[in-house]
Amino acid sequence: MTKNKKQRTNHHHTIEKRSILMLLLVIVTISVGGIVEILPLFRKEVTIEPVEGVRPYTPLELMGQNIYIREGCYNCHSQQIRPLRDEVERYGHYSLAAESMYDHPFQWGSKRTGPDLARVGGKYSDEWQVQHLMHPQSVVPESIMPAYAHLSERLVNLNDIRAHLSTLRTVGVPYSDEMIKNAYHDAIAQQMPEGNNLDGLKARYGEKVNIRNFDGDRRSLPTEMDALVAYLQVLGTMVEFTDYDPAHAKKAEVQP
Ligand code: HEC
Repeated sequence: MTKNKKQRTNHHHTIEKRSILMLLLVIVTISVGGIVEILPLFRKEVTIEPVEGVRPYTPLELMGQNIYIREGCYNCHSQQIRPLRDEVERYGHYSLAAESMYDHPFQWGSKRTGPDLARVGGKYSDEWQVQHLMHPQSVVPESIMPAYAHLSERLVNLNDIRAHLSTLRTVGVPYSDEMIKNAYHDAIAQQMPEGNNLDGLKARYGEKVNIRNFDGDRRSLPTEMDALVAYLQVLGTMVEFTDYDPAHAKKAEVQP
């Protein structure tokens, strides 16, 4: 054994034989590591990188999310695609943190009795979604999903829609004064294109926003079915993944 190595072993002995000294050194080491990792986060305004295309929900979609939460859909459905090959092949591009940055509370979920819904937007027609929610077994005979037919009977409660938007603004969702002021009108216009001026809605939420009657109900006020289907149809569609190359991505992102 060289002299140097012997000395080092002796240091070890000194520390290992004195438990209090060892404890103090352990605390010092962990604290330094913790500070180095945690401190920079306090100096940052946002820790999630914004991604092009992600916008706050329209008032109608937001009410849809509230219904999704009220009905407990998260008990059976997750909204989080993990970067693993089987998930990406089944559900599409893995979820980005930015895609749920305006969800309060987020709907990642922890249980999948049914499939993940993070990218269900645009997968089926509105008619399919409505039929499925009314009577799941009529489109998927072996389904164990409960029916939600009552949603088409009930009108969305829009009395406090502005308060919903401004509350979300206090926790960082960038709803503008315009968006809050026009929330009631926007909720109605999104599902009743005829006879409503849609320029404002598009200017506020972008050209891509889905504007159509979602549930086939011609009453001017939105039903809860309209809101829920509007919400489902926008899930996972905000970010364009056109330059996404699955073959390449799989190699880079899938763990061995
Ligand atoms: C008891 C568990 C359960 C609950 C609660 C539940 N689902 Fe489902 N869901 C399922 C199962 C199982 C399937 C797969 C069979 C089918 O398509 O019906 C499914 C399928 C779906 C699909 C089709 C997904 C796809 O990619 O094919 C959608 C959309 C959906 N559910 C939406 C909802 C919504 C919205 C709610 C709340 C209103 C809800 N589910 C509540 C179990 C559930």
